[in-house]
Amino acid sequence: MKTMSLRGRDFLAETDFSREEIESVLAVAERLKQERAMGIYHDNILRSKTLFMLFYNQSLRTRNSFEAGMTQLGGHAHFLDPNKIYTPALEGKEVAYSTERVSDVARVLSRMGEAIAIRCYGDPVEWEYGGATALLREFAKWADIPVLNMEDDIYHPFQGLADMLTVKENFGGFKGVNFTMSWAYSPSVHKPRAVPQSAILYATMLGMNVTLARPPEMELDPAIIAQCQEYAAASSGSFRITEDFADGIAGAHAVYPKAWCPTAIFKPPVGEDDPQKSQEIFDKYQSWKCTEELMDTAAHDAIYMHCLPADRAYEVSNYVMDKTEGPGWKSVIFDEAENRLHVQKAVMSLVM
Ligand code: CP
Repeated sequence: MKTMSLRGRDFLAETDFSREEIESVLAVAERLKQERAMGIYHDNILRSKTLFMLFYNQSLRTRNSFEAGMTQLGGHAHFLDPNKIYTPALEGKEVAYSTERVSDVARVLSRMGEAIAIRCYGDPVEWEYGGATALLREFAKWADIPVLNMEDDIYHPFQGLADMLTVKENFGGFKGVNFTMSWAYSPSVHKPRAVPQSAILYATMLGMNVTLARPPEMELDPAIIAQCQEYAAASSGSFRITEDFADGIAGAHAVYPKAWCPTAIFKPPVGEDDPQKSQEIFDKYQSWKCTEELMDTAAHDAIYMHCLPADRAYEVSNYVMDKTEGPGWKSVIFDEAENRLHVQKAVMSLVM
């Protein structure tokens, strides 16, 4: 791979990168993590550089890991609340003096800093599936600096990278690892699909044996499923879908149960714009909860994964979340959260 292959590139979706490039990012993340543990600092890598972070949605992990990451690399992360600037809006969705066209915002910020990171999904785009992705792509079209996806309605590429680093740390690699991404029950239907979609894209790209477990109404984007099948064939891994929660967890090395919304919640033509129907669908599957009894059916050294925040006592029992040590299976949720920091430092070091 060319040394500067990633310099200047946007990081919007894992599908924009080759397996070799993703493996290089993970290697850089491991190195940054190990060196920081040894007291080697990296504050010369992005010295005097600025990352603009635009959050249309809430965040604990994403905001703080990007902000801490920029500090550790010697730069500055600047938090932007879309309601406190003129809210960036696509052409045709502008409101006089309360919004500003994305093309203008992107070009202004490009004159002042070295990258723009954006989180946008759900309510800010009125649950129009793909609406947030289009907003980020429009930023990327106009910005002269890299645009980073801090979660849109299709992809959460930094969460997926942190998840892959966590799997690698636990199993030494990806070959032969049984990775199960499963739906789990939550009282809230307003859960984007980005985390499960990014997880299965990376897991199939990197050659794991991937199972997607979900009730029939909780299907994911057909284009993402097709891409996973293609990746699994190319990487000599495997990909299957089951509608049986217990079948998905039995024998898995990595167990990743979390809620995501049913298609009915999205605006037409993708969905039906029907939150009540979505709630009724969800409530049929309250038994999809990750318990210690289910974890006992996974591989003996299995890891329980979640991007957080988790809906304790609904998606997962408190015991499963909090059992962060062996013997036997263990929860690695805080390792995943920490690894957000290291993978984001790696990508920022390489693209900015
Ligand atoms: N996992 C994740 O993206 O967390 P936040 O929503 O807190 O950023």
